[in-house]
Amino acid sequence: MSRVEISSTVNKIGESVKLAGWVHNRRDHGKLIFIDLRDSSGVIQMVFTPKNGSATSGQGPQDDIYEMASKLRPEWVVEVIGKIAQRPEKMFNLEIATGQIELQPENLEVLAEAVTPPFALDTDGKEIGEENRMQYRYLDLRRARLRDNLTLRHRVIKFIRDYLDKQGFLEIETPILTKSTPEGARDYVVPSRLYASKFFALPQSPQQYKQLLMVAGIEKYFQIARCFRDEDTRGDRQPEFTQLDLEMSFVEREDVIALNEALLIELVKTVVPEKRIQTIPFPRLTYKEAMEKYGTDRPDLRENKDDPNLLAFCWVIDFPFFEKTDPSAGSQPSQGFGGQAGHGGWTFTHNPFSAPKPEFYDHLIKQENVGEILTSQYDVIMNGFELGGGSIRNHRAEALEAVFKVMGFSAERIQKNFGHMLEAFSFGAPPHGGIAWGMDRLVMLLANEANIREVIAFPKTGDARDPMMQSPSELEVKQLNELHIQLKAGK
Ligand code: AMO
Repeated sequence: MSRVEISSTVNKIGESVKLAGWVHNRRDHGKLIFIDLRDSSGVIQMVFTPKNGSATSGQGPQDDIYEMASKLRPEWVVEVIGKIAQRPEKMFNLEIATGQIELQPENLEVLAEAVTPPFALDTDGKEIGEENRMQYRYLDLRRARLRDNLTLRHRVIKFIRDYLDKQGFLEIETPILTKSTPEGARDYVVPSRLYASKFFALPQSPQQYKQLLMVAGIEKYFQIARCFRDEDTRGDRQPEFTQLDLEMSFVEREDVIALNEALLIELVKTVVPEKRIQTIPFPRLTYKEAMEKYGTDRPDLRENKDDPNLLAFCWVIDFPFFEKTDPSAGSQPSQGFGGQAGHGGWTFTHNPFSAPKPEFYDHLIKQENVGEILTSQYDVIMNGFELGGGSIRNHRAEALEAVFKVMGFSAERIQKNFGHMLEAFSFGAPPHGGIAWGMDRLVMLLANEANIREVIAFPKTGDARDPMMQSPSELEVKQLNELHIQLKAGK
């Protein structure tokens, strides 16, 4: 007999089945032992009675099954053969899919015993400290809430892949070992063994590669892309996170906005039909309007913030391209793709690769009225969170160069950091633009969670560690030597 999933048993009343899973919990009622068995598809109640062992004949049940059941403890892994029976009506539990049936076990095998878990697994887990949850994340993930979150994440990603595939997009992987460039947050770096004193950097986003794919003639690219930023962790920010990254050639701002808006609407309708989008089409605000009216560039437009099923999206557009650098703040940008200070007193607000709105192109090239230049940048906001952002790009080398000049970068520095992009553009780059969404944020909001670590299988702690793998960790001296690295004394 092959094993079936618990969720399939609802249609199997009267049949014998083989199930396997974990002991979810047990309740002893007089002589009866009730054990809930859990697998990845659900939970079913099993009832062991003292007569289980001796009542039936033939190849028959184990004689000692009741005795064995009395030894079972939570999280033991077992295989059970038994009959699916309808429960007495007064025992119905309408809260679970298998609440009208139960398993009457005839054969029980313990596949693995388990020590007592460090915390309860049949709660939502919110009462447990982060350190503990992350150290035993594989146990934490056994709880229904987190399994549901991972299931939702899978469905969201699958929907996006299928939708974009139908629209002619190609999903293309871009490198994880890449180059450190001063374009945003602090990089995670990887020392090179073969090239002493040289380093790779992990990508903060696939931004440059996706633009190079446009130069390569791929007109519609997307990727469910892992990104790495060495910045302070928050509820909606992890050092390692996932973007839906997307880029298209021969498009204007309206084309990218329209595609993304349609994708978000279809996704919500299909994957989370219980949710309602407050306003369609999504409202649009200029940066100036948002700041004046709401005091933030990511306003929460929900009419009723108590409604867990209400989604309020909006687009924020017409951001200033440059802002004055704050001399007291040093060169560390405040967040994400935020500006890197040059020496010109100006830095970009979003992304050096963004094009200005067409009417400001000449200003950029001539580096005139810099403070008034508006960028083609668009951000999509969801319930007060920045879900995504993108722009139409500077596909001409002169425009990209002008951005760095405004920021006071020397010709040499431009060449060193971005020469490869300027050279690529010299070979005929199509006008292009795109966007990236924070996938973790999207799933967090759809799952009504308050922190993106609830929708990431193995997230880092608030202080950017992994207590389960105990990383980051020291290296052996041999490894350090191979990497040509000498640690500072005392470290
Ligand atoms: P940006 O830096 O705005 O743009 O990132 C896009 C989206 O990614 C999410 N995000 C994060 N999510 C979790 N943890 C983080 N540390 C984190 N940082 C950012 C946010 C954000 O809106 N290459 C450009 C996009 C483009 O122009 O196409 C980019 O990365 O939801």
